[in-house]
Amino acid sequence: MMTPDNDPRKDATASAATTRPGRGGLEGIVAATTALSKVEGTAGRLIYRGYNIHDLARTTTFEEVMHLLWFGHLPNRAELSDLQARLVAERTLPTAVLNILRELPPTAEPMDALRTAVSAWGATSVKGKPTIDQAIGVTARFPLFLAAFHRLRNGLDPLASQSELRHAANYLYLLTEQKPEEQHVRALDAYLVLLADHGMNASTFTARVVASTESDIASAVVAAVGALKGPLHGGAPSKVLDMLQAIETTDRAESWLRDALARGDRLMGFGHRVYKTEDPRAEELREMARLASPQEFALARRVEELALALLEEQKPGRRLYTNVEFYSAVLLASVGLPGDLFTPTFAVSRAAGWTAHILEQVGNNRLIRPEADYTGPDAMRFVSLNER
Ligand code: ACO
Repeated sequence: MMTPDNDPRKDATASAATTRPGRGGLEGIVAATTALSKVEGTAGRLIYRGYNIHDLARTTTFEEVMHLLWFGHLPNRAELSDLQARLVAERTLPTAVLNILRELPPTAEPMDALRTAVSAWGATSVKGKPTIDQAIGVTARFPLFLAAFHRLRNGLDPLASQSELRHAANYLYLLTEQKPEEQHVRALDAYLVLLADHGMNASTFTARVVASTESDIASAVVAAVGALKGPLHGGAPSKVLDMLQAIETTDRAESWLRDALARGDRLMGFGHRVYKTEDPRAEELREMARLASPQEFALARRVEELALALLEEQKPGRRLYTNVEFYSAVLLASVGLPGDLFTPTFAVSRAAGWTAHILEQVGNNRLIRPEADYTGPDAMRFVSLNER
């Protein structure tokens, strides 16, 4: 078989490019400026607009964090009520979106349903440059999109939102038709605060790239949902739950983890591109999971300890620590969410960050268009189809 390397028609002076940027994956490359959030990988520190994530997770609601990200400061009471009213006013689903969700097979992945719903919402409701109204509109609807699909796939009709319920509580209500327990609401609200933004993560970068082309907000958010879905990004927590369920009891944990590593599998919920110490969100989630679900927590904690020891033993020097996804799985399960809604629930939170980044990008835009290091052949002598 003729390949570029053994092809005699190749110009002898041509050579493939030899320089490669670092280890690939744009590691260490600064791709944007942002005032939204800062991730300090070595210190294990995360701030949103200067506020430490630990303070925010323990003391603020998701609505306050949305306000912080979109409007640049934590709201006073009047500003918070105003934002809450704007979010509530957006809690409607266009008929076209509902009809499309009805047409999806019940076996469709909720992330695919979410991506489809955002796209259909864009087709019916979005015109022109991204605006703050659209940011509020799409973020307000994420719980509606997901809950509608979840109920339809279970043969149930979607429910109308409850205007007195805030974002987290309304999401749980829309899924279950039950008034959610206060401790579940608090846990989910803190989870939404913790996951709302995280520097130039893959899905946020994706959203900014699309926004930089002067495309619309729905297209940018659809692309971000697609990027979040992958297991190396937001798709890990349901796999963490699968792992904990497969391990079942603490006495089986070490052999299960050793077998997984021997097969070359990655342990879900560990390792991070930026954090080379514990992810500060994991610290918060661990404590929340400990309170929410003591029995499941005991297994998870043992698995975590063993996984960290085995990663240190088998991947020395790689600095692999617990990431946000590990205890997200335990916490979201304790709130009563099924595993396949974990990543979509991450999206319910990150929608705030994505849209804030989209607005920041369009506020000071230049097309994001990097270059590639070409490694193919150069200066091939062209031969026509009849001569090949
Ligand atoms: N389990 C086992 N080994 C791992 C893990 C893991 N979870 N993570 C990294 N490694 C190993 C790699 O095999 C590699 O080993 P090698 O040097 O012998 O080849 C080394 O550590 C470095 O790995 P990279 O792929 O270069 O690390 P990168 O920074 O690209 O990856 C990532 C980060 C994708 C998160 C990775 O740690 C991973 O796959 N983790 C598991 C999936 C996961 O938990 N995803 C959620 C991430 S958090 C979030 O996005 C919200």
